[in-house]
Amino acid sequence: MITRADVEELDRTDPLRGFRDRFVGADDDLIYLDGNSLGRLPVASADRLFDVVHSQWAHGLVRSWESWISWPRSVGDLLGATLLGATEGQVVISDSTSVNLYKLAAAALDLRPSRRTIVTDSGNFPTDRYVLSGLASARGLRVVEIDGAALQDVAAVLSDDTALVALSHVDYRTGALLPMDSITAAAHSAGALVLWDLCHSVGAVPVSLDACAVDFAVGCTYKYVNAGPGAPAFLYVASALHSSARQPIWGWFGQQAQFEMGSVYSPVESIERFLVGSPPILGIALVESGVRLLAEAGIDRLRAKGIALTSLLISLADSWLAPLGFSVGSPRSAADRGSHVSLRHDDAYRISQALIEHQVVPDFRRPDLVRLGCSPLTTSFSDLYEGMRRLRDIVSSGRYLDIEIPARRVT
Ligand SMILES: Cc1ncc(COP(=O)(O)O)c(C=O)c1O
Repeated sequence: MITRADVEELDRTDPLRGFRDRFVGADDDLIYLDGNSLGRLPVASADRLFDVVHSQWAHGLVRSWESWISWPRSVGDLLGATLLGATEGQVVISDSTSVNLYKLAAAALDLRPSRRTIVTDSGNFPTDRYVLSGLASARGLRVVEIDGAALQDVAAVLSDDTALVALSHVDYRTGALLPMDSITAAAHSAGALVLWDLCHSVGAVPVSLDACAVDFAVGCTYKYVNAGPGAPAFLYVASALHSSARQPIWGWFGQQAQFEMGSVYSPVESIERFLVGSPPILGIALVESGVRLLAEAGIDRLRAKGIALTSLLISLADSWLAPLGFSVGSPRSAADRGSHVSLRHDDAYRISQALIEHQVVPDFRRPDLVRLGCSPLTTSFSDLYEGMRRLRDIVSSGRYLDIEIPARRVT
């Protein structure tokens, strides 16, 4: 049986323990197990934002664009080198994940004009499935949704008609982590291109886009990267595709000699061709600040702590929660999961609400999942232990049973 003394010892010997105090609110009573949805605010980011607003914007005014204009690429390079296994010139910060997904999926489909099938997972994040369906509908293509995206599931549906395989590296509900290398290789051997959604991977698990020969990838920065609500997303396009891949939104930030204001769109032959309009500078400053913190911690140490936290969570769930009607809805093998764990219970919604009333923030995911995020920089072993203890006590005492389920709930 794991004791409080055990977890306090884990915190004492945690090589990342100093990072928690570098976030606003880390010392309040809240047990925050939702850093995989919206990460906490780094103290340095609040300072950085103040500087960009009060100095660069307030006094530099339009002259600050001289420096700002290079940020989508320079911060993309930093993110690529430290968290994505991408060499220079293949990552930019821009738009939202949904918009980037649209741009890159469209570019991929244009590169395979005679093929009519897109492969994705029926459990993929809704925006991914909607964007792919929209593209398929506009072009008269077919989307094949597989149930569960293990290598054999993907391989079973690949054919010489497959244009694109678009999957999430880490599943937003179960936390299942897919083998990027073997799925990418299988898609390539069928002549298809791949597009990975890295929203639940970036900053939590090592990603090796170049080494896996990935074609396209997208992801957000408001989860483990801690860049704040609505922070701009990133996109990756392998440099081998920079001259051939064209995106569908012909904006002036992708244009050669942008400020000559030419009459004909002719995109640059570099990653900037996937930019569209004026970059969100304040948001990019926060992405940079978040990435620097993760880079200082190091992705291998982040991954090791993520595994230790999620393993502790599963052990506590087995001993405390299984007798109360819970089951583990995430892979038990650490190598096959990201940094969150979902617990199944028929009353997951009411239990999640009761947890929030008891100062523990989880996420509820339909229909029966309590999703618990273990963001390695901001979650201590003691936080997790205490959150799980409150969960056990709420359920064993029935303190969730009087919570009403709204007739039409927005989640
Ligand atoms: C896996 C995944 N993809 C895409 C999105 C949506 O991204 P955005 O709202 O930035 O377009 C999310 C949001 O949580 C997500 O978890």
